[in-house]
Amino acid sequence: MFGLLATLALVAATVFQVLPANCDRNATVVVGDTCNGISAKYSVSTYQLAAVNTGVIDANCDNLQIGEVICLGLTGQDCMTTYIAQSGDTCVAIADAYNISQSTLITNNPNVNQICTNLYPDEVLCVSSQIYVNLTMSS
Ligand SMILES: *[C@@H]1O[C@H](CO)[C@@H](O)[C@H](O)[C@H]1NC(C)=O
Ligand SMILES: *[C@@H]1O[C@H](CO)[C@@H](O)[C@H](O)[C@H]1NC(C)=O
Ligand SMILES: *[C@@H]1O[C@H](CO)[C@@H](O)[C@H](O)[C@H]1NC(C)=O
Repeated sequence: MFGLLATLALVAATVFQVLPANCDRNATVVVGDTCNGISAKYSVSTYQLAAVNTGVIDANCDNLQIGEVICLGLTGQDCMTTYIAQSGDTCVAIADAYNISQSTLITNNPNVNQICTNLYPDEVLCVSSQIYVNLTMSS
């Protein structure tokens, strides 16, 4: 029963683009958008965009639909201080540039590994000194 309801909810979210009740900002997908392009345009981290849209945007981000409305951030968990990674960047340098600890940087961007060896150009990072990622939810 619960499984059926969860399935129906997922279908509804996909077809009717119902945003989470606690969505605090949204965007409409336009021609040429990619996930990291949307992240850069609206200052949303790569991690946050994916986490907020679990079950809506697939892992490779190849199912965006023109005109689709997607949520960018949830109230109270919406990091808007972002930085777009460039070739050659290191977590040490990014953390220093924003006066935050590496641990804060990695906590806010759980897609970055603990030793920060998987940064890639155009990845969008949350560089706030405040912790936004809900560890309960992301674990
Ligand atoms: C998207 O955000 C705008 C405000 O920026 C709001 O008016 C609109 O209702 C939101 N769309 C949805 C589907 O929640
Ligand atoms: C850097 O952050 C520390 C607190 O973590 C603060 O005391 C200090 O003033 C900040 N420095 C700059 C230049 O913002
Ligand atoms: C984090 O998620 C838990 C479980 O969903 C919730 O109880 C808690 O209020 C959330 N914390 C924040 C800061 O949103």
